[in-house]
Amino acid sequence: MVSPSTSFRPLLAEMRRGRYYHCLRMIQTEITEELKRRFRRARRVVVLTGAGISAESGVPTFRGGGGSAVWKGFPFEQISSADMLTRDPALVWEWFNYRREVISRARPNAAHRALADWEKRFESFVIITQNIDDLHRAAGSRTVLELHGNIWRVRCLSCGRVAENRQVPLREIPPKCACGGVLRPDVVLFGEALPGEVLHRAQTEAARGELFFIIGTSAIVYPAAYLPVIARRGGAYLIEVNPEATPASRLVDVTLAGKAGEVLPALSDA
Ligand code: OAD
Repeated sequence: MVSPSTSFRPLLAEMRRGRYYHCLRMIQTEITEELKRRFRRARRVVVLTGAGISAESGVPTFRGGGGSAVWKGFPFEQISSADMLTRDPALVWEWFNYRREVISRARPNAAHRALADWEKRFESFVIITQNIDDLHRAAGSRTVLELHGNIWRVRCLSCGRVAENRQVPLREIPPKCACGGVLRPDVVLFGEALPGEVLHRAQTEAARGELFFIIGTSAIVYPAAYLPVIARRGGAYLIEVNPEATPASRLVDVTLAGKAGEVLPALSDA
């Protein structure tokens, strides 16, 4: 089963083998001439995004700034877990109801818009996102692989039907399906497998990208955090956009240490 986990082992093993160990390389914060040249010439571009890209839209990240999100006294990994859904579905829904309220107020920011624009520039352009907020599509991006599901979809625990549900706030917790069954968010919880087909496609795209961007992710939740390794093995040039260093920083060719909403439009202009 490939479920979200925060083990560093695969990335560290890759680094110990020494092949991609760039720890002595200086962290690069400028948009270099080489990056501009590669950006102009690339045909296949792949982008991995995480919560940080939506931070400037007002959606809080899970980690970063030295802390980890806690809600009503629960670490978010506990409340966003398959185990908690079995024990207390109403509590899990209260957390998702809160997140739906926050996300419903959010609008795509300059980073989402830049990526939607990039899609028109390149022969092949794919966004692989860990986010469930739907802001990439709201910005106009079309090819978006959602590794962790979508907060605006619900799935019936009885009949399995998947449907869109944009009710904010929810009138009933937990919400019910037309068949009478209890609905759950159609997102990946800790302890659950990622959608196999989406993950497979993400891995395939990562392996064939010429440029691979890692934007706004702490790069510690697997299997998403392994995609940069796959991209590197496939020969991609790796660019990280994040104000903070992450485990992926050692793997990449360039780190653009800044906010996605500032760095991506600057790269578009450059
Ligand atoms: P995290 O919250 O772990 O990391 C957010 C990252 O964004 C941090 O590295 C920040 O430094 C960075 N960041 C903050 N503001 C930024 C900005 N304006 N521009 C660029 N970067 C910025 O989020 P994820 O890595 O997405 O999974 O978390 C991965 C997964 O852990 C989530 O998808 C979720 C969570 O548990 C599930 O719920 C299954």
